[in-house]
Amino acid sequence: QKKITAQSFITMKKNGEKITVLTSYDYIMAKALDSAGIDALLVGDSMGMVIYGQNSTLPVTVEDILRHTQAVARGTNRSMVIADMPFMSFSTPDIALKNAGRFIKEGNADAVKLEGGRERVKSIKMMIECGIPVMGHLGLTPQYIHQLGGYKLQGKNAHAAERLIEDALLLEEAGVFAIVLEMVPWQVAKEISSRIQIPTIGIGAGAYCDGQVLVAQDMMGFSDRKPFKFVKKYADVWNIMVDAGKNYINDIKNGEFPAQTNSFEIPEDEYQMLKD
Ligand code: KIV
Ligand code: NA
Repeated sequence: QKKITAQSFITMKKNGEKITVLTSYDYIMAKALDSAGIDALLVGDSMGMVIYGQNSTLPVTVEDILRHTQAVARGTNRSMVIADMPFMSFSTPDIALKNAGRFIKEGNADAVKLEGGRERVKSIKMMIECGIPVMGHLGLTPQYIHQLGGYKLQGKNAHAAERLIEDALLLEEAGVFAIVLEMVPWQVAKEISSRIQIPTIGIGAGAYCDGQVLVAQDMMGFSDRKPFKFVKKYADVWNIMVDAGKNYINDIKNGEFPAQTNSFEIPEDEYQMLKD
């Protein structure tokens, strides 16, 4: 199977073929989703909350993303691997370029993603000039949580939506190959998708985006918490884990594990000599 590239994303939009993206932070999840046929795996800074139990994405470091990107790349054949640039890793164009370069060279990522609109154009252009494919991210940008004042729907009125459209056009002009739209009304996402030639990848942004992304652990039900409205649950891994844990504990307490078939043995005569 052919490797998916930034160029494939643009071709898929042109052909009206929906683009599928999920997050992945580790080797085995990457391997499973790559074999399922996912187009791209995003090593998201959502790892801070999802696998490290932090309460926002802000504590996630370049080293965190780097190490997890390496693991995901090792599990991937066909999917594109996109490294998410964490908070403060692109605070100036020089810092952005240096860190994006590390994700490609050391992390084996195929592309990077960063949050923000017009204020990121200079950094994005520098990365693209160096051969690094860049994905944009507009709408709810969780690294701006302290400014946004919560994980809320963005672009809720015509004025705010107009600003989002301007940002999308500026990112397209800067050369990004796709834009994540997070938590925007479906009408606004539809409008943006029709005004740009590069694909929009929606999360909580409705059905008119050119592709969709979710956190894999959310759609697989890794958590005991009720999923967000925009998530569809495809598995119930939380209950599978809890049940497996309970059954293991019960089996040991009841002497049902390990069984003879799980044990190793020496020949009977050796055992007799040992006992004598
Ligand atoms: O970090 C992440 O998982 C993301 C996606 C939700 C787009 O940025
Ligand atoms: Na992210």
